[in-house]
Amino acid sequence: MPAARPWTVGALVRYGARRFRKAGLAFGHGTASASDEAAWLVLHALNLLPDAAASGAGLPVDPRGARRALALFERRVRSRKPAAYLTGEAWLGDFRFRVDERVVVPRSHIAGLLREHLAPWVAGRRAIRTALDLCTGSGCLAVLLAHSYPRARIDATDISPAALAVARANVRDYRLGRRIRLLRSDLFSALRGQHYDLIVSNPPYVTTAAMRRLPREYRHEPRRALAGGRDGLDVVRRILSDAAAHLNPGGMLVVEVGAERRSLERAFPRVPFTWPETAAGDSVFVLGREQLPRPTRRRPDRV
Ligand SMILES: C[S@@+](CC[C@H](N)C(=O)[O-])C[C@H]1O[C@@H](n2cnc3c(N)ncnc32)[C@H](O)[C@@H]1O
Repeated sequence: MPAARPWTVGALVRYGARRFRKAGLAFGHGTASASDEAAWLVLHALNLLPDAAASGAGLPVDPRGARRALALFERRVRSRKPAAYLTGEAWLGDFRFRVDERVVVPRSHIAGLLREHLAPWVAGRRAIRTALDLCTGSGCLAVLLAHSYPRARIDATDISPAALAVARANVRDYRLGRRIRLLRSDLFSALRGQHYDLIVSNPPYVTTAAMRRLPREYRHEPRRALAGGRDGLDVVRRILSDAAAHLNPGGMLVVEVGAERRSLERAFPRVPFTWPETAAGDSVFVLGREQLPRPTRRRPDRV
């Protein structure tokens, strides 16, 4: 390991990026390139703030710090774990979340829309009094909802008790225990009689064929968080069928579906989905309660 040579922050990042490219790593868990991934690990190893990768590239690094960064590079290459699982944290904009392998690494494109308070679909920050984050995982979107809408009380649900334990830690970090209620629920099953001004969800939506092709990095994430069935829409269909019964008049549903826009529009040709621009193009739809399919009559699902 070349720890003995004199390192700077920038030289470590360049070394890591070369190592990652040579090893053929996959990215997409909060970074999009070998350089960004290497920078993240270097900053973590040296306990530096995110903007130091650019502004502090020339800073010298002592041998112990260099050894920590180089050891993280090796773990990244050998384990193929996304950087977030090695550092135990992930970022959505300025918000830091604890993560581990009980939850997917936060990267939802709903986060960018919440930064703009879902304008123009939601009339201002004070318009939302009740909100639901279905499939909350780490609780990241529930925390962002609480910051976007300061008057809102939020329910956040997940089918996985292990994911809810991570969400609980994040809610605690942000001191939001009084505004965010975490519940174990198979979609709406534990929410009988509850109504919301806004429902958001980043559910599992990866098709069975795409699941088979996933790079190793994604196989460290909980399968149940990703797998959406043959056409990716198993969970999305259930959300569409039951959401209207849980929205107040004028309420909005916001759901992420990854690359499945065409399948969804083919499956629901009469539903007037709106696709706001996100960093990933058209991966999130917005629907008003009145535009949703009529609720179906069937027995509620059990956890
Ligand atoms: C793609 S992850 C999203 C996590 C988080 N909202 C985010 O954006 O990072 C999907 C989550 O849905 C949960 N999930 C899967 N099926 C579910 C179901 N039927 N009811 C509730 N949650 C479910 C998984 O446990 C997982 O935490």
